[in-house]
Amino acid sequence: MAIKMLGISASPRLKGNSDLLLREALSGAESAGAQVEYIRLCDLNISACVECNSCYETGQCRIEDDYQMVLAKLLEADRLIFATPIFFMNVCAQAKILIDRCQCLWANKYVLKKSLITSGARDRRAMVIAVGGTKGKKMFDSVRLTMKYYFDVLDMQYVANLFINKVDDYGGIKKHPLAMKEACRLGEELASFAKPPPKKPIDVELT
Ligand SMILES: Cc1cc2nc3c(=O)[nH]c(=O)nc-3n(C[C@H](O)[C@H](O)[C@H](O)COP(=O)(O)O)c2cc1C
Repeated sequence: MAIKMLGISASPRLKGNSDLLLREALSGAESAGAQVEYIRLCDLNISACVECNSCYETGQCRIEDDYQMVLAKLLEADRLIFATPIFFMNVCAQAKILIDRCQCLWANKYVLKKSLITSGARDRRAMVIAVGGTKGKKMFDSVRLTMKYYFDVLDMQYVANLFINKVDDYGGIKKHPLAMKEACRLGEELASFAKPPPKKPIDVELT
């Protein structure tokens, strides 16, 4: 059976830098036989978590919007590639809104002690793509931490990062062939069940 790979693009810029890398990674995965799906958060209507905490009792988010559809895809996926620009040293707001809405998964796992990921023992893995306009020593620290906890509630192993520094202009990533190549390679690698997941996320950081 083909691996189901979901790509989530959080950038507000259509065909922005992180979005183009995500598309490249998904095409690498597709060429390796994965069944890929691409979602762009800006095309969807997802409002922010209101901290009503009803999910602590029901296990479900009570806000009816496009999050419910994204959640179904997140639960079904074997692989996730999450792409975001760096905004103020972290993921962008669109990404954070989706992440916060997944509090219902946290409630299921840690309050209600049940898993929404039902179909057997699943080998679920996730990777992050992030692009920042400058170069700073700590530029990806917050992303790393946020995504570590996010992938934990998704019951996905955090297997790789593709972090790109100093690409700011719209579409500037097209002038960075190595970044595009690495995105394709990592997408292709992610599309396999063959290799066991690494103990720590593999880091590819390019300038
Ligand atoms: C609101 C905002 C905040 C930003 N914050 C940072 C930042 O903290 N560090 C940085 O290096 N670049 C920052 N940038 C630049 C973007 O990360 C950069 O332009 C990136 O290429 C955007 O990726 P995208 O095309 O995928 O959206 C910021 C840009 C915006 C619009």
